[in-house]
Amino acid sequence: MDRIKIRGGKVLEGQIFISGAKNAALPLICASLLTDETVTLTNMPMLSDIKAMNILLEQLGTKIDEFNDFVDGHPAKTYSYRTKEATSLVAPYDYVRKMRASYYVLGPLLARYGKCELSLPGGCAIGARPMDIHLAALEQMGAQIEIKNGYIFADAHGKLKGAHIIFPGVSVGATCNVLMASVLAEGRTVLENCAKEPEIGDLAELLNAMGAKIEGIGTSVLTIDGVEKLHGATHKVIPDRIEAGSYAVAAAITRGKIELINAQSATLRRPLQVLKDMGVRVSETDRGILIDAKGCHLVGQDIMTEPFPGFPTDLQAQFLALMLTAEGASMITETIFENRFMHVPELLRMGANINVHGHASAIVRGVKKLSGAPVMATDLRASFALVLAGLVAEGETIVNRVYHLDRGYEKLEEKLRAVGADIERIKDNDEE
Ligand code: EPZ
Repeated sequence: MDRIKIRGGKVLEGQIFISGAKNAALPLICASLLTDETVTLTNMPMLSDIKAMNILLEQLGTKIDEFNDFVDGHPAKTYSYRTKEATSLVAPYDYVRKMRASYYVLGPLLARYGKCELSLPGGCAIGARPMDIHLAALEQMGAQIEIKNGYIFADAHGKLKGAHIIFPGVSVGATCNVLMASVLAEGRTVLENCAKEPEIGDLAELLNAMGAKIEGIGTSVLTIDGVEKLHGATHKVIPDRIEAGSYAVAAAITRGKIELINAQSATLRRPLQVLKDMGVRVSETDRGILIDAKGCHLVGQDIMTEPFPGFPTDLQAQFLALMLTAEGASMITETIFENRFMHVPELLRMGANINVHGHASAIVRGVKKLSGAPVMATDLRASFALVLAGLVAEGETIVNRVYHLDRGYEKLEEKLRAVGADIERIKDNDEE
């Protein structure tokens, strides 16, 4: 398996282009299942999760064309999806176990064909992650749901029916899935207590471009008037706010200065405020956001993860790493997932001072220095936190299980090398 080798101590300076958002692209791809016409997505990131979703759609009967494109002078992919007629309504275990987001085929297939069989994803490295909220809402829309042999068998016996649904908890996945289910349902659907993450807004914009009637985009109440049929559309994926936030931390942790090209500050208000409160200079530029930590003395801050517009759980690990280089103590509270401090034991091996209390909070105390070590993480964002620690650690850090990073960070080493990091990928068969 590939590894990443980092020699710490470089001050990062320059520009990083922010790619299209993985967590927007994944439901957008599945939205293409709602029509027999072509849906074209531009500014698609080049990530293994996108490839995995494409393979699943091909298995369902979607014809996919891939084009090399440019967005603001930077290479990106464009994909065209056409599902003239689905040849399968089954998302098998082997696909779903590799990528949970495969569950986004449920809403569209149920809406268009009235049926879907989906392997239940099960738990993962960051928590139990059930699908009860998705399923209860689809039942309210008239679907019959049965769980058997590890699969969800969903049957709407024809068309789904509009319903008034109040989600019992805020869920990004359930909001997207039920939104996609509702656009072809009979009558009006009202969804209350929706997640408001920008990726959901992006999905709703594509659906409206395909002929859906969704109101309330960006708010916690979405009103959807079902239509008979959707048509094709072309849509540009929003920039990845989590990638942008991750590189913002790379600038701050190395006390460097990076302009995040195409990053949108409206999607990053809380994390940017934390950086400012720590003592980092943050400003908007014509092309994105400038993070300037040169000569800054950083002070620890408390963070609590919350649904958008609160502090994102997907930036918790990276900010925790940053707090290690700040003065004083910081309390990090994770409220979204029950097992999202798996990076802590690895950071401790690099000389960190962190005390985890139960599953939900950690006290981080700034340390004089971190030292390089071989480390590995169990999820994508935790792996990036280890890369960040490696960038400031004395000596050499080897990050194992790089496949996690490849799921969500396009050209990670290339982007970091371009701003001065000493980082390289050791291929499985390379000599060290
Ligand atoms: C999405 O996951 C993202 N994934 C996650 O990003 C992100 O961490 C998460 O939203 C929160 O922002 C994608 O967009 C593909 P949820 P999702 O449903 O939709 C509980 C990354 O690193 N819940 O909002 O699965 C759930 O267990 C990934 O890019 C139920 O109890 O998250 C969790 O505690 C990791 N029942 C909370 O709600 C349900 O039916 C929020 O989960 C659904 C969720």
